[in-house]
Amino acid sequence: MRIIAVKDYDEMSRKAAALIAAQVLVKPNSVLGLATGSGPVGTYALLAEMHKTEGLDFSEVSTVNLDEYYGLEKTSPQSYYYFMQEKLFNNINIKPENTHIPDGTNLDRKAECARYDRVIRSLGGIDLQLLGIGHNGHIAFNEPSDHFEPNTHCVTLTQQTIEANKRFFDSIDQVPKQAYSMGIGSILQARKILMVVSGEEKADALCKMVAGPVHPGLPASVLQLHGDVTVIADEGALTLLRQQAPHLIG
Ligand code: GLP
Repeated sequence: MRIIAVKDYDEMSRKAAALIAAQVLVKPNSVLGLATGSGPVGTYALLAEMHKTEGLDFSEVSTVNLDEYYGLEKTSPQSYYYFMQEKLFNNINIKPENTHIPDGTNLDRKAECARYDRVIRSLGGIDLQLLGIGHNGHIAFNEPSDHFEPNTHCVTLTQQTIEANKRFFDSIDQVPKQAYSMGIGSILQARKILMVVSGEEKADALCKMVAGPVHPGLPASVLQLHGDVTVIADEGALTLLRQQAPHLIG
């Protein structure tokens, strides 16, 4: 695992956008795994800028998102569908039919999970998976558990995650209690993984992910088993790792 230390959120976003742009330049028909949350917002804005000013071409790119709230309409501003249109897809030349997000409006959990796994398979695997990390070490919506879930599944969100994500809703009662999430197995099958981490409130999760045991109680720790993971972390996020395992920061 390569840990790239950066000063702040802006530098993190610049480096992440540069790595994603390089992926698209080298392989124009790349399959990008995409994430939501505040972590990648700056990265997406820069990719949109590169499309506008330098002609970075997404016309052959396919995307597959990590997760979506169960039961939220696509028109809901809190849905990850809406987030992706607003933050990225509307601002680049990607073909809508090449973008994939779990369908939160499909209330048939079994059918939707099976459909999404078929989508991931049909794309032939993910070339570059972008990830954030939750305060409790979740990746996508794979919450701490006693096992790693391999495939797409419907998750009951922890109270900590509901608390963390309530900032996007008018009130905590409006945060959905469940979500569809890509499984850990699919994430690990991505050829490359790129994680962005910013802020001191993520320092504990980042430190455990990198320096702790591989354990489903801290889902992101499973990334230690992947051969090509790059983490771009800012100084706030690195506070604990700098104290506890500075040799791991490259
Ligand atoms: C949500 C998403 C995750 C994301 C996490 C952190 O829970 N499901 O994929 O990594 O939030 O988000 P943020 O960057 O806003 O802290």
